[in-house]
Amino acid sequence: MSIMLKDNVHWVGVTDWSLRKFHGEEYSTHRGSTYNSYLVQDEKTALIDTAWGPFARQYVENLARTVDLDRIDFVVANHGEPDHSGALPELMRHIPNRPVYCTANAVKSLKGQYHADWNFQVVKTGDRLSLGSRELIFIEAPMLHWPDTMFCYLTGSSILFSNDAFGQHLASETMYNDLVDQCELWQEAIKYYANILTPFSRLVEKKIMDFAALSLPLDMICPSHGVVWRDNPMQVVAQYLEWAKDYQENQVTVVYDSMWGATRAMADALAQTLAAEVPGLAVKVFNIAKQDKNDVITEVFKSKVLLLGSSTINRGILSAVAAFLEEMRGLGFKNKKAAAFGSYGWSGEGLRQISEGLKGAGFEVLSEGVRELWKPDAAGLDRCREFARSLVPAL
Ligand code: FEO
Repeated sequence: MSIMLKDNVHWVGVTDWSLRKFHGEEYSTHRGSTYNSYLVQDEKTALIDTAWGPFARQYVENLARTVDLDRIDFVVANHGEPDHSGALPELMRHIPNRPVYCTANAVKSLKGQYHADWNFQVVKTGDRLSLGSRELIFIEAPMLHWPDTMFCYLTGSSILFSNDAFGQHLASETMYNDLVDQCELWQEAIKYYANILTPFSRLVEKKIMDFAALSLPLDMICPSHGVVWRDNPMQVVAQYLEWAKDYQENQVTVVYDSMWGATRAMADALAQTLAAEVPGLAVKVFNIAKQDKNDVITEVFKSKVLLLGSSTINRGILSAVAAFLEEMRGLGFKNKKAAAFGSYGWSGEGLRQISEGLKGAGFEVLSEGVRELWKPDAAGLDRCREFARSLVPAL
């Protein structure tokens, strides 16, 4: 199957309806995904990106139904990650000498993974490749999100092939931003940004400004996952600029794990008090041991304040909370506040460890937190409510 997007530019990718985990087990994909590959036919023919390795044969067979493989003049590898380059070995088996246009860092990542010495043509920002009536302009985008990443832009058709940027893990038959459920689209777009691009927000902002400075018309953005932005493509660019500026909504997220319900009772008291004290504040509560971590990360991304709680166990914290702290440390959220809470039976080290973990993850820790011995009674729950009220000025 292929889809004509415009001006002899076809989508020739793969729709992966059943994908539920991505990046190994790191990223949940409740709505599947797509590996977008684009065929640009002019006097010359260019193929932009491929698909994930398990789909390599299916991808190449499908591609061959759209174009005689021998008529592909140029292969463009915008990014070396296997979800976009995994079908390259199968493709190059058919067209072994075809030039592969990519960044210098992509030569390293492609060679490092496939151990093949293809006909690499290294390009830099501003380099152009003539297809006849139109040109591809290459734009390096290092660390969005690998060192090897680049975009390319098709003159004449005004299409930006943005690779992972502006993508969403969203499988759909329709492939266009205006034809899919808007709630699902934006939920997947913000989740993608929160979980993958948060560490690179400064670079996102700069790359968008650099692209704007080129004053190139933009009619369509073709990312490497999810739908093509054809209806007002600038809407996702504007949204990225907002997300890149240490985004937050009027929200507090309470995240915890609990052995026997005491820390959970504290979480409930904290959340109920904040919801009652601050009109209009969204308060969301998650047990991180039971909830999808990528969905919770998305909620933290939207929050002003995170309250993180754990029972103390073996002089430490519950493993789900520890793993969540490690996830947040890697993402490096900025401009967010936090506080710790938790119950204990005797030693009670958990509270301090959570606070230290929050600091290490870049949060401004508002206080030493609230800790309750055994299961909080009415007085203990009152202390939690009082603690929640003490946080109100920070909101
Ligand atoms: Fe979709 Fe960085 O690969």
